[in-house]
Amino acid sequence: MNLSLLGKNALVCGASRGIGKAAAIELASLGANVTLVSRSADKMSDVIKEMDMDIDKGQDHDFLVADFLELSDLKKRVKGLVLKRPYHILVNNTGGPPAGPILKAEKDEFDVAFQQHLICNHTLVKLLQKGMIAAGYGRVINVISISVKTPIDNLGVSNTIRGAVASWSKTMANELGQYGITVNNVLPGYTDTERLRELFGQRAEASGNSYESIIEGISETIPAKRLGRAQEIGSAIAFLASPAASYVNGVNLAVDGGVTRSM
Ligand SMILES: NC(=O)c1ccc[n+]([C@@H]2O[C@H](COP(=O)([O-])OP(=O)(O)OC[C@H]3O[C@@H](n4cnc5c(N)ncnc54)[C@H](OP(=O)(O)O)[C@@H]3O)[C@@H](O)[C@H]2O)c1
Repeated sequence: MNLSLLGKNALVCGASRGIGKAAAIELASLGANVTLVSRSADKMSDVIKEMDMDIDKGQDHDFLVADFLELSDLKKRVKGLVLKRPYHILVNNTGGPPAGPILKAEKDEFDVAFQQHLICNHTLVKLLQKGMIAAGYGRVINVISISVKTPIDNLGVSNTIRGAVASWSKTMANELGQYGITVNNVLPGYTDTERLRELFGQRAEASGNSYESIIEGISETIPAKRLGRAQEIGSAIAFLASPAASYVNGVNLAVDGGVTRSM
């Protein structure tokens, strides 16, 4: 099975921590040259120190500081990157929208989420697709959520935007498939990242229960009986980025220990 990403350039969004960081590490371990994107230079510089880098094979990593809510600035910076080298792999990933019931959501919250997730993904694909078409090799992997299959309580804005991204992604897969480009979604289940710890920490505080008991309760609902590890999501992303996944296009791949009950 060909999993080698030697000679391939990857742009990994939201790579300063969590799932994005894990994806960057896994892609580098398969040989890709990785450009990390987030707002935190120091954290990304630390991530690069953790990544495999085989200088003899010409492997090289760098990072771009950008805010996905500052679209024109992001566009300018990514255009600058693309002038230096074409990108074969794009991992669209960013922070999730704040929690809350949908009835309480205001227009601005939808606007921000739409921009940070769908419009940002779309802008990046438009900037990178020319290089992918020229190379005859493209992999777009969008990190969404299992809420695409079953909406999660108290994540009103998030559930809504995830569905929109899944639909955008499937449409993009239909258009780009002819060029050797695949567009797929990875749907993480409950994954042990800083973000999850923050969210469940708040839930523990609000309910008066311990953090450990909240995690035990969640784990009980998962067939695997535990949270996912960021590396497990990163590995699925790296597989979809590889030559081996050339005929996988337009899918929603749940990486969730079986917690999604639909087929
Ligand atoms: N963890 C889970 O259990 C889980 C489950 C289902 C779905 N998901 C989804 O998967 C995605 C990743 O999850 P995660 O747990 O890894 O999240 P996370 O720990 O919050 O990481 C989010 C990443 O996105 C970056 N980011 C956030 N806002 C940004 C902005 N405006 N501009 C540029 N970069 C930005 C952050 O970097 P900086 O803050 O350094 O800029 C960070 O690197 C999220 O959409 C999340 O909702 C997660």
